[in-house]
Amino acid sequence: MHAVILDGFGGPEVLRWAEAPDPPAPGPGEVAIDVVAAGVNRADLLQRQGFYPPPPGASEILGLECSGVIAAVGPGVTEWQPGDRVCALLSGGGYAERVVAPEGQVLPVPEGLDLVAAAALPEVAATVWSNVVMRAGLRAGQLLLIHGGGSGIGTHAIQVATALGARVAVTAGSQYKLDRCKELGASILINYREEDFVAVLGEFGGADVILDNMGAAYLERNVDTLAEDGQLCIVGMQGGVRGEVNLSALLGKRGTVHATNLRRRPATGRSSKAEIIAELRRHLWPLIADGTVVPVVHAEVPVAEAARAHELPDSAETVGKVLLRIR
Ligand SMILES: NC(=O)c1ccc[n+]([C@@H]2O[C@H](COP(=O)([O-])OP(=O)(O)OC[C@H]3O[C@@H](n4cnc5c(N)ncnc54)[C@H](OP(=O)(O)O)[C@@H]3O)[C@@H](O)[C@H]2O)c1
Repeated sequence: MHAVILDGFGGPEVLRWAEAPDPPAPGPGEVAIDVVAAGVNRADLLQRQGFYPPPPGASEILGLECSGVIAAVGPGVTEWQPGDRVCALLSGGGYAERVVAPEGQVLPVPEGLDLVAAAALPEVAATVWSNVVMRAGLRAGQLLLIHGGGSGIGTHAIQVATALGARVAVTAGSQYKLDRCKELGASILINYREEDFVAVLGEFGGADVILDNMGAAYLERNVDTLAEDGQLCIVGMQGGVRGEVNLSALLGKRGTVHATNLRRRPATGRSSKAEIIAELRRHLWPLIADGTVVPVVHAEVPVAEAARAHELPDSAETVGKVLLRIR
């Protein structure tokens, strides 16, 4: 098969579409997927630079999510059949013509949803649902603050929270991104270059839940922003890994700090990817099937131009996901 391989670690120019060994035939409980499109994630950019090695046993090929068509199923798989249109959460290997995935990480592509666009869903859906809903239990009437509202995660979280009946505040670095967030359902729009989100959220009594991409850089201010019984869900460390918390402020408001990573979760069992995917299928997929929550795709880039696709996430104009078209 062909896959995107790395000519060493480095900038986007190390990505090359080339011959690569076929993945093994699917084992028990696994399926092989002929990939149509793959999502580009910030983790891929880090892995390309040599900062985020794949977990033991995962493919060395980049790619944490894909859409495509089931090509073959392994022993014991009853849920999926060759020809099914699916998208899947992966531990790696999505930037390739074929990938093998555990059956529990596969989701059907609802009728009417574009198969390419479906590649934009698994990572953001699993990350947002597992944090905002399964961990923090966001409810109607609560206020969710999303940092980086224009990101892949952010654009999805706005729609999910709005569908649940929550109010949404976002931070972003430009008016353009804030406008797009508003179209998706956000009502409190904060340009972090011009305004202090702690002060703005203070006017609304604080945030019940915060979905954070900045880690250390925002830790203290996030704690200051929490409402009573508020919950901070840290999913990104774009602002560093070590921060200080004023525990007095946290315990005074009975606050909670969650921090979770999707890729390192086990495939099955407690807190696994399969557990999250099952919840998505039950609760989120109907909202995707009826168009309440839609994939937000900034660009579909042919895989031969993978280097260009890796430059897009840091552009000020990029809102939502960047996809690689594999075939
Ligand atoms: N823990 C997990 O399991 C998990 C899974 C998936 C993703 N993630 C993480 O979640 C984050 C979002 O992922 P993604 O793929 O959606 O990223 P992305 O689309 O590449 O977006 C990153 C965003 O960060 C924003 N940003 C930069 N500086 C900021 C600041 N000071 N304050 C607020 N926002 C700022 C950028 O927007 P502006 O132009 O507005 O600055 C951009 O929209 C990343 O950190 C990623 O690593 C974690």
